[in-house]
Amino acid sequence: MEYKRWPPSTTFQRNMGLFQPTLPPLPKSLSFEGKTVLVTGANSGLGLAASYHFAQRKVTTLILAVRTVKSGEATKAALLADPIVSALPTKPTILVYELDLGRPSSVKSFASKILAHTPDLNIVLLNAGIGSLKFETSPEEPHNELHFQVNYLSNAFLSIRFLPLLRSTAQRCGSRSYISIVGSRMQTMSSFIKSPIPDTTSVFAFLNSPKDYNKFTRYGDSKLLVSTFIRELAQRTDASLVIMNAVCPGMVHTSINTKQPLLVRAITGVVFAIRARTAAVGAQSLINAVTAGPEIHGEQLGDYTVWENKFLETEEGKKMERRLWAETLAAVEKDAPGSVQNAGLE
Ligand SMILES: NC(=O)c1ccc[n+]([C@@H]2O[C@H](COP(=O)([O-])OP(=O)(O)OC[C@H]3O[C@@H](n4cnc5c(N)ncnc54)[C@H](OP(=O)(O)O)[C@@H]3O)[C@@H](O)[C@H]2O)c1
Repeated sequence: MEYKRWPPSTTFQRNMGLFQPTLPPLPKSLSFEGKTVLVTGANSGLGLAASYHFAQRKVTTLILAVRTVKSGEATKAALLADPIVSALPTKPTILVYELDLGRPSSVKSFASKILAHTPDLNIVLLNAGIGSLKFETSPEEPHNELHFQVNYLSNAFLSIRFLPLLRSTAQRCGSRSYISIVGSRMQTMSSFIKSPIPDTTSVFAFLNSPKDYNKFTRYGDSKLLVSTFIRELAQRTDASLVIMNAVCPGMVHTSINTKQPLLVRAITGVVFAIRARTAAVGAQSLINAVTAGPEIHGEQLGDYTVWENKFLETEEGKKMERRLWAETLAAVEKDAPGSVQNAGLE
């Protein structure tokens, strides 16, 4: 699939027309035979739809990372019962692992289990995420604000922990590995663009402060952090071994808005009815993000388009990027000593 570059854009409107473009179908020849693929948030919405795409295209091992293992087992049974999957000569091995991105202990233990039991890892699709208006914090130390923890920090942690295995798998298999984190166009509405995080406070402290919490932009803020992190990580990673990016699937019918107040759900329900894609179609852009070439390394993708992030080219944006990177590495290193060096990031 060829990627076009989108002209610099910082406004919501420029990215969100009334009707979304039709996505071309995935190539018929696409196959994940021989590959081990990990999907977070695989029990519903885009993660579930992406899991069907992988399973139907002959993935060898599919790791479903889910909050509720019982539902994960039901997802596994449904995937194996799918008419296309059940007709395959070799059925995928599907493994279910518990992962709660809101609890650092769960994220740490999940990463350790995967690293201990998974000889090869070709694709990591970090899809799970939340969108809510409420200020909530993780139940565990250091009690980070929940969008920051779930959408950003846990994904950054997993990317760094899995990077050495993704690299060694690429070397062993002779084909590139991938990390893709599901981002969002809502990042173009991030509050940081108009009012950058002050230099006088740490980025993490700002994100955790209830008084600096903007409920209307925090979801987009957390997704801007994701593409900022990916840019930095990509600069330190050889794209001939591991390709990484953040990807927005467009507006997609899923349960992402179920935690919103009734009025918000009613409004988004109408908008979704007019313009949202099905999860199966939206997930095509996720599949594309973990199969395209090095032109998408370190990029923020929307559909099959690379966005140039104007904010990150400004002085303020660059400053935020540097500070976020340093604080992220320090946090990851604190939770998993040695992992920053193992990932070749020092
Ligand atoms: N739908 C859209 O229009 C749209 C647009 C742009 C980006 N996205 C992004 O797409 C991704 C998938 O969302 P979706 O639209 O498919 O919504 P969804 O149906 O609500 O799926 C979200 C998934 O994330 C999982 N999740 C939530 N909190 C978690 C946690 N603390 N630990 C582990 N897993 C957790 C959920 O698990 P449970 O099944 O246990 O709840 C669920 O499987 C998100 O990152 C979202 O921001 C969506």
